[in-house]
Amino acid sequence: MVELSTWVPFVESPEEVVRKMLQLAQIKPGELVCDLGSGDGRIVISAAKDFGARAIGYELREDLVRKSREKIAGLNLDKVAKIVNADLLSADLSQVDVVTIYLNTSANEKLRPKLEKELKAGARVVSHDFSLNTWRPVEVSTTEPAGHTIYLYSSPWSFRK
Ligand SMILES: C[S@@+](CC[C@H](N)C(=O)[O-])C[C@H]1O[C@@H](n2cnc3c(N)ncnc32)[C@H](O)[C@@H]1O
Repeated sequence: MVELSTWVPFVESPEEVVRKMLQLAQIKPGELVCDLGSGDGRIVISAAKDFGARAIGYELREDLVRKSREKIAGLNLDKVAKIVNADLLSADLSQVDVVTIYLNTSANEKLRPKLEKELKAGARVVSHDFSLNTWRPVEVSTTEPAGHTIYLYSSPWSFRK
């Protein structure tokens, strides 16, 4: 199994970026959102609480898993939000509607074949600050004032020439 953790430390997406990522994906209530490398759980929690989604996060760091599970329990979201303490490459993406990522360029390249293989038609991928090299985004959005960039991709994937 490829270990990504040392390449991608925990840096949280600001709340306005989280909201924008989930808005761009046009999440419908009941859809399944998966945050790969879920940090303190903020994307998972917002997807469930603010967008009516079912949400799951994969996170390697046990302290962050514990913290996010506590927040989920405190908000009574246990039925719709879950954190798995495992490598994100072990996630089953076959039922996922929206994948969110805030990793880096090389981690995205390792992940891309899995996204292409497992995600179903109509799935979306939203990436904070790092594009997926060979994919063509359907939308690129920049949040001000900090200048975070959000890339939206939608299946069937479109590739750069
Ligand atoms: C940049 S943070 C993003 C956190 C959150 N998604 C957000 O946007 O606020 C990346 C997270 O991925 C986790 N991570 C890195 N490699 C991982 C792996 N192979 N499997 C699961 N989690 C991983 C890190 O521990 C970190 O919490």
